[in-house]
Amino acid sequence: MTHTTTQAPAPADAGPGAWSPGGVRIEVTEVSRAAGGRRVLDGVTLSVRPGQVVVIVGLSGAGKTTLLSLMAGFTTPSEGEVRHDGGPIAAGASVGYVPQDDIVHRELPLARTLAYAARLRLPVGTEIEPVVAKVLAELDLERCAGTRIGALSGGERKRASIGTELLTRPRAFFLDEPTSGLDPATAAELMGTLRDLADGGATVVLTSHSPSDVRHCDTVIVLNAGRLAYAGPPEEVCAHFGVFSMEEVYLRLGGAVPDGDRTADAVPCTERACDGRRPQAPPPAGRHPGVFRQWALLSRRNLDILRRNRLTLAILAGSPLMVLGMFALLFRPGAFDPADPSPSATVQILFWIAFGGFFFGLTYGLLQICTELPVLRRERFVGLKAGPYVLAKVTVLLPLLLVVDAAMLAVLGALDRLPDGDAVMYAELFTTLVLSSAAALALGLLVSASVSDPSQAALALPMACFPQVLFVGAILPVPLMATGGQVMSLALSNRWAFEALGHSAQVERLWAEGASPLGPPLLMSYGDSFARPLVVDWALLGLFTVGLLLITRFTVARRSAA
Ligand SMILES: Nc1ncnc2c1ncn2[C@@H]1O[C@H](COP(=O)(O)OP(=O)(O)OP(=O)(O)O)[C@@H](O)[C@H]1O
Ligand SMILES: [Mg+2]
Repeated sequence: MTHTTTQAPAPADAGPGAWSPGGVRIEVTEVSRAAGGRRVLDGVTLSVRPGQVVVIVGLSGAGKTTLLSLMAGFTTPSEGEVRHDGGPIAAGASVGYVPQDDIVHRELPLARTLAYAARLRLPVGTEIEPVVAKVLAELDLERCAGTRIGALSGGERKRASIGTELLTRPRAFFLDEPTSGLDPATAAELMGTLRDLADGGATVVLTSHSPSDVRHCDTVIVLNAGRLAYAGPPEEVCAHFGVFSMEEVYLRLGGAVPDGDRTADAVPCTERACDGRRPQAPPPAGRHPGVFRQWALLSRRNLDILRRNRLTLAILAGSPLMVLGMFALLFRPGAFDPADPSPSATVQILFWIAFGGFFFGLTYGLLQICTELPVLRRERFVGLKAGPYVLAKVTVLLPLLLVVDAAMLAVLGALDRLPDGDAVMYAELFTTLVLSSAAALALGLLVSASVSDPSQAALALPMACFPQVLFVGAILPVPLMATGGQVMSLALSNRWAFEALGHSAQVERLWAEGASPLGPPLLMSYGDSFARPLVVDWALLGLFTVGLLLITRFTVARRSAA
């Protein structure tokens, strides 16, 4: 099915929609989508012309979000096909997708958020400030430019999400329930903005639960349990269902309703939808940011977000301080003194230092990805690579861990809780600790990429920690473990960190030659656990880090894919 549109002469007044090079024609043919073992969308066929505002309505669970993301190319159909302008959907700038969740970080001011989004999405060398200023003006958000996103009202925040999409001047806009939670006036204002975009030539498709949104649209698509129940002009929807109001249409849904006997292409194109083209500026062209630039940009944004999140910073800095205080209270000084050693205390001190390095690494990484999945998904859709994304997390967090590990060793050394070693020994202890923290950070990032929200990440914390306590060799030396435990210990980074620390602290010599009678039996039970060359332990910790980061990268790619 084809549609022809006529290009009207450009009016002098170029309003908010003055940018689009013409919208996208969308054709949905016999599209079905299976999820959770059933068809959540079933044989939907419709087409949408450029310049239209189309609203998808239906009861909760009818398949509105599913259809919207299929039309945008955000997900792929199980059967049938979706075409844009008669061809396959091209990922990138021609499509703007605003999911129901915010796709903006709450910590940053609005203008800065838009500037980061613009740098990620627009070609290298584009002058960013004018682009951001224009979008702020178009969405009537100029007075909020310096306001933190988290402090914006719901409607302003929704417009901020739309703003990130507007930056690239997409030819088609898809919005999932943009008016939900807004008061009627703000909702009408937002619908007016969308109307302006369509008048500029863009194709606008949204889902909604609000009967009043329907009035602002050219076409209404009604879904009933995954099937198309109506597609046509808003004025005729009530007559189609034999009712008098949109509310009654909802009441009819779920019961027996006429099935798919209208399609959107049967709708005559309204004057405004087809003839309202404005002067068109081409979307910015040029080379888009490569992986190195993406990494640098995301690292800067991560640092910016962290710097502004005072509570998170306080927790990140405060928890090591608390743990250090507890170590100082728990362990008496001089446990490593050869004249009066405490072999069992030395095991515990070394283990808890190793576990401290692990725990801080793990917790630093744990909330990094699951808290920004909607942003990540959206940015991946416009070309962000998973590798630079994961590396940018490490770039910002690893230096913090370096400081924490150094502080832990410096304080414990000053308080006489560590052996009386030279700079080389301290350098070795520090290297081990940093490598252990890096492996744990990678594990934290992997867990964060695998779960769906922070509460699941919090539940995963004990699961990640318990084995690193039980099977490391501090509670029970590895040679004394059951075979299963010994095999398990091989896979735990903390074991190799603990044994490397023991190697550098020369516990074997202390236990063999120190004054305590407990030393030799302890040495017997540990066998040659601490005899391994340090480089082997370090190489293993490095392998854990690289391996876990690679798995995280693939997990991020998989979780953020269609
Ligand atoms: N990944 C999935 N696994 C299982 N079921 C799914 C999945 N995705 C969607 N569904 C189911 O498909 C149906 C349609 O989901 P969809 O999100 O499209 O509904 P909706 O019309 O947008 O609902 P709402 O108005 O509540 O947002 C729902 O019953 C939902 O539970
Ligand atoms: Mg939905």
